[in-house]
Amino acid sequence: MILAIETSCDDTCAAVVEPSGRRALSNVVHTQTEHERYGGVVPEVASRAHLERLDGVVERALTEASVTLDDVTRVAVTTRPGLIGALLVGVAGAKGIAYSRRLPLVPVDHLEGHVAAAYLTEPHLEPPFVALIASGGHTALYSVRPDGRMRLLGETLDDAAGEALDKGARMLGLGFPGGPAISKAAADGDPTRYEFPVGLKERDNLDFSFSGLKTSLLYRLKALDEERVRAEIPHLAAGYEAAVVEALVRKLLRAADIHETLAVVVAGGVAANARLRRRLEMECGSRGLKLIIPPSALCTDNAAMIGAAAARSSAVTYPDYLSLNARSV
Ligand code: KG4
Ligand code: ZN
Repeated sequence: MILAIETSCDDTCAAVVEPSGRRALSNVVHTQTEHERYGGVVPEVASRAHLERLDGVVERALTEASVTLDDVTRVAVTTRPGLIGALLVGVAGAKGIAYSRRLPLVPVDHLEGHVAAAYLTEPHLEPPFVALIASGGHTALYSVRPDGRMRLLGETLDDAAGEALDKGARMLGLGFPGGPAISKAAADGDPTRYEFPVGLKERDNLDFSFSGLKTSLLYRLKALDEERVRAEIPHLAAGYEAAVVEALVRKLLRAADIHETLAVVVAGGVAANARLRRRLEMECGSRGLKLIIPPSALCTDNAAMIGAAAARSSAVTYPDYLSLNARSV
């Protein structure tokens, strides 16, 4: 079994994954609530919370999978990218467990982890395919080659899609994290009442930009008095969410066209968005493109995806990983 650990941001995660990387026996996520009062993740608070929680989360992952450390044959951990202090807690914890049991350790890239969630979702999926990762920290398109290597096709030039939703939600007074908050507020809204710009819409490349969207919301809000804003929140949220979704859908389809792929994978926290899922199901359906979007629990940060990626990566043998370090980028 693979014991996987993920602590790159504000979720303390551990999971037990089968050696094939196709099935998770447990997937425990402790979401830190300490950040809510700040309206964003505070790195130092995240590191301390990981330190307090990691042991308990690992124990729960083993118990829920009905295994013990004796059943673990390799330990996997996210080593990059992310908040450096947060990553270090997971890396030190994973090294400690692996070293004490003389096990190999697999360092995993967080973004490769997000893509690997697709292997847990679709048992027969194999590359090549095109993958869109949209999270709070990243928004990028990759071509995943037959050997599993990921080639960057395009990425955001400013904010990540999740970051744009988080910032928009904050401007609308909707709370944190912003993605689910905006979706909830937008449920009864008319997305066409307020039109927001879709970043780099006409550009013939595969990059994203969400900063214009944020500015546009700011000006919209300035033009309305407080009472109107309150009444218009569902429509503003719906228009804003639609603009983020539209940018993601357009660029993913363009990438699929250019790379003549038969399958597309969408992952990362924003892939939990219901509107995005609906739009993609429709567009991919009409193009005969196979669409793989993991269930929400595998889209937002979790350790099962790290275990799935580890099944496809080479391990560092005992005890060579002691010098292994975390990296923020
Ligand atoms: O992948 P993730 O859990 O953490 C990072 O690696 O960043 O993504 C978190 C992001 C946040 O910006 C959050 O607002 C967004 O994903 N998110 C959503 C939804 N659930 C989480 N965005 C839109 N709709 C959702 N349902
Ligand atoms: Zn993530």
